[in-house]
Amino acid sequence: MSKTATTLPTPVLLAIDTSCDDTAAAVVCGQVVLSNIVASQVQLHKPFGGVFPTVARTAHQENWPRVVQLALQRAQVSWKDLSGIAVTVGPGLAPALEVGIAAAKQLAAEHNLPLIPVNHIEAHAWSVLAQPKTKEKTVTAVLSTTQLPKPQFPVLAIIVSGGHTQFVHVNALSDYKVLGQTLDDAAGECLDKVGRMLNLGYPAGPVVETFAKLGDAKKFSFPLPMTTSANYDLSYSGLKTHARNLISKLESEKAIDQQVTYDLCASLQKGVFTHLTYKLTKLLQQSEVKFSEVWLGGGVAANQTLRATLRQTLKPFGLTLKVPYSKRLCGDNAAMIGVIGALHFAANKTLPDPTTIQRQPRLNLDSP
Ligand code: KG4
Ligand code: ZN
Repeated sequence: MSKTATTLPTPVLLAIDTSCDDTAAAVVCGQVVLSNIVASQVQLHKPFGGVFPTVARTAHQENWPRVVQLALQRAQVSWKDLSGIAVTVGPGLAPALEVGIAAAKQLAAEHNLPLIPVNHIEAHAWSVLAQPKTKEKTVTAVLSTTQLPKPQFPVLAIIVSGGHTQFVHVNALSDYKVLGQTLDDAAGECLDKVGRMLNLGYPAGPVVETFAKLGDAKKFSFPLPMTTSANYDLSYSGLKTHARNLISKLESEKAIDQQVTYDLCASLQKGVFTHLTYKLTKLLQQSEVKFSEVWLGGGVAANQTLRATLRQTLKPFGLTLKVPYSKRLCGDNAAMIGVIGALHFAANKTLPDPTTIQRQPRLNLDSP
């Protein structure tokens, strides 16, 4: 087992995530985040208007040693303090995932540490459990002063990111049922793609949020997709097509000015979030499961309007919304990989032979 298990109540893990365009490393002590380093590649991918996988791989290869070193330094831990290394195995971009897994294998072998394979979507779901480090400097002090919250199951996890939009029934650790998910584009992907049409840069999601605050959400109407389907699946490609046609029509009349851009962002954001809350309401009305908690995770979870809209939707059901303690925990990061990795480690799950750990670009939450 761990080298530190006898001296520390929970495992101290180094965590690595290279699933997309961020090279991320973190150190956690159980649920407590001791450091959370993200080397963003946004500037590299900007010219492509999206993530270019081979560019991401090269950047991950260049960045990871520095990012890992910084994560350990900031956490004020050394290799001998670690109990293991948690690493994202999927879902994600294959060439990007490979780099983090190879790095984790190399470090695990060098320092004689076990490897904990982590599902990136599972990590987004459980990111609400992460706790900030308190003022105390040492790991032991952090642990002795932190009251860790325990989840009340069953939980409904809502994951809204650039790659996924899902409603997940979390019954316990490793016990998941996907209740609904997007059949095409994810919510963040839709915001990014329409933002690209409006020349808002990449990723456009945060810019759409800022511009939406200056615009009129009622100015343009967006369709509400899949109202006749009996399930809780979503579809964002229709909203994207609607936006493309609308922008072309407006451009054919006159150049789109700043105020129209603001109005388009506000209307688009409303359309994207209304689709999500419409399906969420339906799910909660029809579900036989009485959820005790609702968790929100993923890059789009940083959006204040989404949080407010979801809180309004949950209120009649007597439910509140749990969100990660910091926006840095919403977008891709390794702290969330460490938090879920620590839960698996503490649950005494038999850890796999490191040589069998491979990338799983299409990994699901509820299939083995
Ligand atoms: O979780 P994440 O970092 O990566 C994936 O796993 O996909 O999510 C990235 C997505 C992007 O689509 C980005 O535009 C969106 O999250 N995003 C936002 C905001 N911040 C990030 N969307 C809306 N409002 C935001 N404030
Ligand atoms: Zn993500």
